[in-house]
Amino acid sequence: MNIKKIGVIGAGTMGTGIAQVAGTSGFEVLLNDVNNELLERSLKTMDKSLSKLKKKGKIEEDKDAVLGRIETTTSLSDLKKVDFVVEAVYEDLGVKKDVLQKVDELLDSEVIMVSNTSSISITRLAALTRRPDKFMGMHFMNPVPLMVLVELIKGISTSQETFDQTKSLAEALGKAPVEAHDFPGFISNRILMPMINEAVFSLMEGVGTIEDIDRVMKLGMGHPMGPFTLADLIGLDVCLEIMEVLYEGFKDPKYRPCPLLQKKVDAGHLGRKSGKGFYDYSS
Ligand code: CAA
Repeated sequence: MNIKKIGVIGAGTMGTGIAQVAGTSGFEVLLNDVNNELLERSLKTMDKSLSKLKKKGKIEEDKDAVLGRIETTTSLSDLKKVDFVVEAVYEDLGVKKDVLQKVDELLDSEVIMVSNTSSISITRLAALTRRPDKFMGMHFMNPVPLMVLVELIKGISTSQETFDQTKSLAEALGKAPVEAHDFPGFISNRILMPMINEAVFSLMEGVGTIEDIDRVMKLGMGHPMGPFTLADLIGLDVCLEIMEVLYEGFKDPKYRPCPLLQKKVDAGHLGRKSGKGFYDYSS
């Protein structure tokens, strides 16, 4: 594997986590987003997270050494200098198409591009580029610095060499890769999101309170977070969007998004990021 510098497009929650983990694993990183404000916020998040991890002895280097390997840019054209690209922009086909096509034109033909999409078809994304054989899904979990799993998804044209190199990179990032086939929601969200959606139906039908439903899954099933706490962490808009992808993708009513989930999103109650979701984070 001859990957020294990794380009990460999108400095949101996932892009920030991916850039941080790549930096921690000794790679140089070029992190891109549309404005400096977003990039500064991302660096602040990394700074805080790295301080915590260092204090707990979970990383060896000082945070400044890691941050020293992470460059930022608002210009996509700077990405022509990287050896591997991870796309982690907003989960919208139009936005992804625009970014992927622009970057595809800049990059050397040998460079692998992956998408961190949680639910969009990898085959469809790959077909937007001129390198479908060098394109695949690399789906990290939130919070990226703490969660070990990475789902690896081949599109219909992804070469075995691309898969093997991406798998080696996942391992070099300290992650445990699992292969999932290119079906809606892959493995993780096909199972997780219907559980969260069912928790919302249970709440809507008055089977239990938010706190009690969370308690059942934590104390009864040993989940580290109950479904409402987790949905607030992921973002209710993201949960709704993934349910819609499952519903549309399988054309099966068992995946219909709960109307209460839709209502929360309509109200702008998106979870931690908006200060309110199923729980209130304003204080
Ligand atoms: N960097 C560094 N430290 C972090 C952190 C980060 N990004 N995020 C949280 N921590 C810290 C917390 O601040 C906390 O520190 P203190 O102990 O100093 O307070 C510590 O980690 C432990 O956190 P908690 O006290 O909240 O304890 P926890 O035992 O619950 O661990 C957790 C947190 C690892 C996130 C755990 O709750 C967990 O595994 N939750 C489930 C997460 C999950 O399911 N993720 C997948 C979401 S689905 C997805 O991502 C896919 C998709 O497409 C939607």
